[in-house]
Amino acid sequence: MSSCPALPDGFDFTDPDVYQERVPLPEFALLRETAPVWWNRQPRGVAGFDDEGYWVVTRHADVKEVSTRPELFSSNLNTAVIRFAGHMSRDQIDVQKLIMLNMDPPEHTRVRQIVQRGFTPRAIRALENALRERAERIVREATDRGSGDFVTDIAVELPLQAIAELIGVPQQDRTRIFDWSNKMVAYDDPEYAITEEIGTQSAAELVSYAMTMAEARKECPARYAGDIVSRLVAAEGEGNLNPDEFGFFVILLAVAGNETTRNAISHGMHAFLTHPDQWELFRAARPDTAAEEIVRWATPVVSFQRTATQDTELAGQKISAGERVGLFYSSANNDPEVFEDPHLFDIARDPNPHLGFGGGGPHFCLGKSLAVLEINLIFNAMADLAPGISLAGPGPRRLRSAWLNGIKELRVDYG
Ligand code: HEM
Repeated sequence: MSSCPALPDGFDFTDPDVYQERVPLPEFALLRETAPVWWNRQPRGVAGFDDEGYWVVTRHADVKEVSTRPELFSSNLNTAVIRFAGHMSRDQIDVQKLIMLNMDPPEHTRVRQIVQRGFTPRAIRALENALRERAERIVREATDRGSGDFVTDIAVELPLQAIAELIGVPQQDRTRIFDWSNKMVAYDDPEYAITEEIGTQSAAELVSYAMTMAEARKECPARYAGDIVSRLVAAEGEGNLNPDEFGFFVILLAVAGNETTRNAISHGMHAFLTHPDQWELFRAARPDTAAEEIVRWATPVVSFQRTATQDTELAGQKISAGERVGLFYSSANNDPEVFEDPHLFDIARDPNPHLGFGGGGPHFCLGKSLAVLEINLIFNAMADLAPGISLAGPGPRRLRSAWLNGIKELRVDYG
């Protein structure tokens, strides 16, 4: 097995305590150079996985290679999230297999083809006006207060609204939906005091709400004709989701579309505040390339994992059937083989083949166009309504998480 003597003994690339302080970029750089596929030892069975660790894949090319070969690297066997010690039992992990992120072809292909109907360029364009109004209202309400926490004032709200808008949740139900969604994430951070029971209970309530939406469409198609839920569930047969499947899809949206976009926006704002020349450039030119650089810079999802279905080799390293392979997007997005001066925040960077939305292949982020739209709308509203924004206080407070690069507080003066 490959070794990397320069890393401290016991260093774990999914240790939430590490991410509470920083993304381990120097450690990733070390691995890219010395052991690009490195065995991260963990005590046996710590995270519900019956093994003694996982491979850390750090180079851009190798993350792409694994992502595009689902027959060799499964999302289903151990699911896609690398968890940290003691976090989940094997049963709880197995329940997660019902969501698309954790399926392999051909099941994945069937579900993905159906849900893709809700994410066509036309469907996303149709949300644009409503979301622009929302973004402007969110920013205006915050700036009226003069100063505050950018994360809760601004970054949290639009991603929640976007998902609610996408699946047509009525206004009066949105507070409840937002509450459940928020309780399902951030379980690693003790500050939120979200116990496993609260998380599970919130997920159950959200599934049940979504299933009720689906049932209503099945019972009375005429009343809801043409809305997105109807397009996914209403007609019988192969080409549609049943109400359970729809319920799990909404759970996935709440997890995959929420904190990811929130953190891209928060990191993006912090990057602009600490790189005033880039904020100047954005305000003056609004380059189309900015949103992609914000996602590369933020890389909100640090890692996902796959499990080898047979003995194989990656970058010269032997991998045995059943071993887990971690795809470290944060490392790939800082790989100097692909990005010139990766440590520079450069909103004009073009091309920008970052892997923040995944390394390609069947699971590539379904919500990418929606996320890019949301990021553009928020920063355009900020540049129009709060161009003089500045940092107040000590800088970002980071989320404690095993796999998200999160900011939970960023104090600002809105100018
Ligand atoms: C900046 C924001 C976002 C980031 C960084 C992000 C990142 C990712 C990543 C890394 C993956 C896994 C790719 C893979 O395994 O190859 C993924 C999958 C996914 N994302 Fe996103 N995402 C974002 C926003 C969204 C939004 C707004 C939605 C929907 C509302 C969404 C829905 C999904 C879904 C449904 C999947 C699973 C796709 C599948 O399994 O086929 N994401 N995303």
